[in-house]
Amino acid sequence: MPEATQVRSMFARIAGSYDLLNHLLSAGIDRRWRRRVVACAGELASGQVLDACCGTGDLGLEFARAGARVVGVDFTPEMLRRALPKQRREALPVLFLHGDLLDLPVADGRADIACVAFGIRNVVDRGRGLAEMARVVRPGGRVFVLEFSQPPGVIFGPLYRFYFKGLLPAFGNLVSGDDDAYSYLARTVMAWPGPAELQAEMEQSGLEACGFELLTRGIACLHFGTRPMTSEP
Ligand SMILES: C[S@@+](CC[C@H](N)C(=O)[O-])C[C@H]1O[C@@H](n2cnc3c(N)ncnc32)[C@H](O)[C@@H]1O
Repeated sequence: MPEATQVRSMFARIAGSYDLLNHLLSAGIDRRWRRRVVACAGELASGQVLDACCGTGDLGLEFARAGARVVGVDFTPEMLRRALPKQRREALPVLFLHGDLLDLPVADGRADIACVAFGIRNVVDRGRGLAEMARVVRPGGRVFVLEFSQPPGVIFGPLYRFYFKGLLPAFGNLVSGDDDAYSYLARTVMAWPGPAELQAEMEQSGLEACGFELLTRGIACLHFGTRPMTSEP
């Protein structure tokens, strides 16, 4: 895992093409995945949401459309700069803050939901990131982690890996103008733990009722967990 400064400068370089490539490379399915997170949150989606590693804001904005008040946190100003015009266009109740997932600028137990989409894969200490998310939700509040995964299956699995390790980095690096960003994406997704392993890590971070849902044949995975009612607020 590269240093935080390297991660930040990589996202600063690709911020301008990030949204376009997200939608192109996933054929628009990434929007559906974020909407699924909001649907999974159910009624809680209208509470206070902390969107960690919010980047250009799409997950937090989706929660705000469902009625939530949202705080989005990211440590790359260039990404946050792309989020602001979207929030203003729809006048949605989202506050974007510069900050680190490993030291969230939010008091204990203030959020009903903490979520992260395609972000925690990039942090140097995943356990600490999960513990931070568990800290900022109230007892009974929920934590959601949306990430790429490696789809199972003897035909679809290898086909997908061919796309992800071969075509996607070549196309992504070309369009973003960056030598490495989309090769980095492929490398980190291939090194990402399987769903059961991440579920165990979420349990170790103090969450209960943890589980996951594979999305689009396992290309992505939505993890969830709840802060125990008995835990100190
Ligand atoms: C792949 S983007 C995901 C953006 C957004 N969540 C989405 O769904 O499109 C990853 C984001 O995580 C941010 N990030 C990575 N490590 C971080 C950290 N430790 N603290 C805060 N933000 C971080 C990067 O700046 C980048 O904007």
